[in-house]
Amino acid sequence: MELLHGLLNRVSIQRLESPGPTETQVEVMLQAALRAPDHGNLKPWRSVMVTGEGLTKLGGLLQKAQLERDPDSDPQTLERCIKMPHRAPSILVLIASPTPHPKVPRAEQIQATAAAGCAMLLAAFAQNIGAVWRTGWVVSHPTITQAFDLKESEEMIAMIYMGMPSVTPRPAPVLSSQEFIKHWH
Ligand SMILES: Cc1cc2nc3c(=O)[nH]c(=O)nc-3n(C[C@H](O)[C@H](O)[C@H](O)COP(=O)(O)O)c2cc1C
Repeated sequence: MELLHGLLNRVSIQRLESPGPTETQVEVMLQAALRAPDHGNLKPWRSVMVTGEGLTKLGGLLQKAQLERDPDSDPQTLERCIKMPHRAPSILVLIASPTPHPKVPRAEQIQATAAAGCAMLLAAFAQNIGAVWRTGWVVSHPTITQAFDLKESEEMIAMIYMGMPSVTPRPAPVLSSQEFIKHWH
């Protein structure tokens, strides 16, 4: 796939089904992420792939976390939490892991992680893998961050849901760029 084609046409796919990406496809995504712009070449991130029983375990933890947020959560909300991870066969949890650096501030290391996440999405799209970047309250809830062994300094940046698109991907919208650029002469 032409690079520009992917850049201009990638869309998120919310409805995903099995199979998830193969090991080879995930490796391509990781290699793409490792080519993302990265001040100081620190590779300030790590990732965890959640599949199979891991999705069920994560669903249980989401329900526990939801009850901690609101002990009066209604049964539908709790049921939704259990089902949430099963919206895809594979979830890649992307964690920024910044370290103190004399020239590369923490913010830039978080930005480098986001750039890596974006590269992963594009590499998924290029391999016809449906993917969507999700966050929400779950990525900062202690029950979830502890389950993924996040250190104090780390941040969960994305849960990238992946699988086969179960709907025809919508075409990418075409937007006018004019309000996003000013020119200095
Ligand atoms: C940092 C970040 C967090 C996001 N969190 C969510 C989320 O929690 N739920 C969601 O549906 N979309 C989330 N999105 C947006 C989608 O991944 C997606 O980009 C958006 O719906 C636009 O669709 P498109 O990628 O097809 O243009 C997030 C995107 C980013 C960059």
